[in-house]
Amino acid sequence: MNLKIYDHKDGIKYTFSSIPGDKSIAHRALIIGALPRGKYTIKNFPKNEDCIATMECMKKLGISIENSNTTLVVESPGYMNFTKSVAIMDCKNSGTTARLIMGLMSGAGIKGMITGDNSLRERPMKRVTDPLNLMGANIVSTEGKLPIIINSANGKMKAITYDMPVASAQVKSSIIIAGFLSKGETKVVEKIKTRDHTENIFKYLGASISIRGNEIYITNSPINSRDFTIPGDVSSAAFLIALCLLSKNSEITIKNVLLNERRSKYLCILKQMGAKVNWDIYEEQCGENIGDISVKSSVLKAITIEREDTASIIDEVPVISVLAAFSEGTTIIKGVEELKHKESNRIEGIINNLKNIGIQCYYKHDSIIIEGRDHYFSKDINIVTFKDHRIAMAFSAAAIRNSKNTIIEDWEYTSISFPECTNFFKLFLNI
Ligand code: S3P
Repeated sequence: MNLKIYDHKDGIKYTFSSIPGDKSIAHRALIIGALPRGKYTIKNFPKNEDCIATMECMKKLGISIENSNTTLVVESPGYMNFTKSVAIMDCKNSGTTARLIMGLMSGAGIKGMITGDNSLRERPMKRVTDPLNLMGANIVSTEGKLPIIINSANGKMKAITYDMPVASAQVKSSIIIAGFLSKGETKVVEKIKTRDHTENIFKYLGASISIRGNEIYITNSPINSRDFTIPGDVSSAAFLIALCLLSKNSEITIKNVLLNERRSKYLCILKQMGAKVNWDIYEEQCGENIGDISVKSSVLKAITIEREDTASIIDEVPVISVLAAFSEGTTIIKGVEELKHKESNRIEGIINNLKNIGIQCYYKHDSIIIEGRDHYFSKDINIVTFKDHRIAMAFSAAAIRNSKNTIIEDWEYTSISFPECTNFFKLFLNI
């Protein structure tokens, strides 16, 4: 289904009292939250397709999940009593589901096949199966891709010391979960720090986990079931913020958003670009900082984003690239290699679509380089999204600067992370 954006609106003043819960935390509230035996609630659970895939996988392990609106009531028999053999775990489009469930199944001694849709079956899994096999998981795969078969170590996984070869929170989390379920102390060392929601949730549940610099240590210990309220997803907020920045005379506030410092780097980068954006942390909830973000229409300038910072904005690179197209000067985003392995090859998605709207840009030495200027354009354009939710939403922000029609192909894929986005984006866009 294509989305046709035929005009945009300026002069918007609006406060969003809430936005759907953070996808990364929601997956973990189900996967890690259900490790102890007990009943708990998850409030502000985002009903996107990725999180629903995790919900369905967890049900297959014998966990009961009742849901009304955005609240889930989860009842778990505890990991020792999970169903020990599952025919197929279908993770659909969700890399986080596949990689975290792999750690869970391996550690808890559950046999079964893990698979997903065409996009997920193309994504690299060796980065997870290698360390899990070193721990004794006995996972078989063809060319390191899904489907994989876990033959189960039957509760006999052993701890590992693992130096992360790639900056990936999904890989790190998979090892931490398996490490928690193994004998001995597992140590994971990151070269570049990635999002730390897994560590935060284990702490929140009372696990024996410690973090020293770039090293994470975890051992098995008693943990307790606890309730969760999921803060608003800052990666979804990112698109609304971009719409506001590129429109004229607008001002928005988004309340109750996740402001974990490894996820709010996007906001710091916007500030460097000259954006009028402010945020204020007012509370800690379930081990995570939350607060409000306020944004005003801004004139932006180009910046250079260093390799060490890219891991913290990995999901925001598409929207930053669109903003860079409307910023004065040459923006360089370094260390983008991992974008080739997302729901689509996002480097191609970014470069092709930016060229399509008349921007000079290229990919060289693992960097995206964009020659931007603060401008408006007038051209009927078709955005090719490669069925990637973040490419679709990022390029809807470009429509703010287009006086002709912007067609976004395969818009329905936005439901992977933000099914409600059309209603939110309508504030700025005539759809
Ligand atoms: C995620 C980690 C990142 C991110 C993804 C969610 C997570 O993936 O791109 O959207 O929840 O751990 P990688 O671990 O592949 O970098």
